Amino acid sequence: MLPTEPPLTDRAYAFLTDLIYRRSRIRLGPDKRALVAGRLAGRLRDLGCDSFDDYCSRLGHADNGEAERLIDLVSTNHTHFFREPAHFEFLAAEVLPAAATRAATLQRPVRVWSAAAASGEEAYSLAIVLAEHFRGRPTLPWEVRASDISRRMLDCCRLGIYEAERVQLPDEAMLARYFRRGFGTREGLYRVKPELRRQVTTSAINLFQADYPLPRGLDVVFCRNVMIYFDEPSRQILVKRLYEQLAPGGHLFVGHAESLLGLEHGFRQVRPAVYERPV
Ligand SMILES: C[S@@+](CC[C@H](N)C(=O)[O-])C[C@H]1O[C@@H](n2cnc3c(N)ncnc32)[C@H](O)[C@@H]1O
Repeated sequence: MLPTEPPLTDRAYAFLTDLIYRRSRIRLGPDKRALVAGRLAGRLRDLGCDSFDDYCSRLGHADNGEAERLIDLVSTNHTHFFREPAHFEFLAAEVLPAAATRAATLQRPVRVWSAAAASGEEAYSLAIVLAEHFRGRPTLPWEVRASDISRRMLDCCRLGIYEAERVQLPDEAMLARYFRRGFGTREGLYRVKPELRRQVTTSAINLFQADYPLPRGLDVVFCRNVMIYFDEPSRQILVKRLYEQLAPGGHLFVGHAESLLGLEHGFRQVRPAVYERPV
């Protein structure tokens, strides 16, 4: 017999979506109800909850980490290496030369932030582009910060282990340069080499938390395929925060399905889904 899911009542769905919104600004409409019920069914079983009301009352108690778990279960973490490749090409050709000059003048590393990094493919794609760009120029330090609201995703990022078929890179030579092939029980897996992993530091950051534990004056921010889940007032808050986090002349990359249209901001659009903070 198939296990039956308890029904997700209007009241419980309203409670859950309100909590998710307050914590993460992820806006889930009525169309996501079946998805939420499906994604939480296993969690209810694990906790021994016989109804969604029961689950909601657990969430209503003092924060026991369950709200974080809830957000993790309902959010979309889909990503892949070199997703939206035009962004990485533009970064290498147009953005990094100016960023390197700025960083050298200010005597600090080139600083790049992958702001909703999920399992890390975006952060390592950035690290590969930077490593390629600065290869042979070891005097120019650089770093990639990877953050996400999901600690589970950040654990994957830190580990840096990916299924071989998911490691699709623009140049085959990069595979040997930046990855180790797994053998035995790790057959079919690749791990990012420690030298590259060391360049990527992770931290759990909710994009709506009061302060970001990051230096100001970043050269590049990738905040892609996350704004799409936020409503307009939240996007407005976020874009203002990202603007302030960037150096004058720094660049913000958003997903190709996203745009700053309809938002107030001081950016100058330089490419589809690429914005520059004017100098
Ligand atoms: C679809 S993934 C995007 C991954 C990558 N940036 C890309 O474009 O492939 C969206 C990520 O945003 C994260 N996220 C959702 N709400 C967030 C918030 N309020 N603060 C930080 N990260 C958030 C999710 O945990 C998820 O890993």
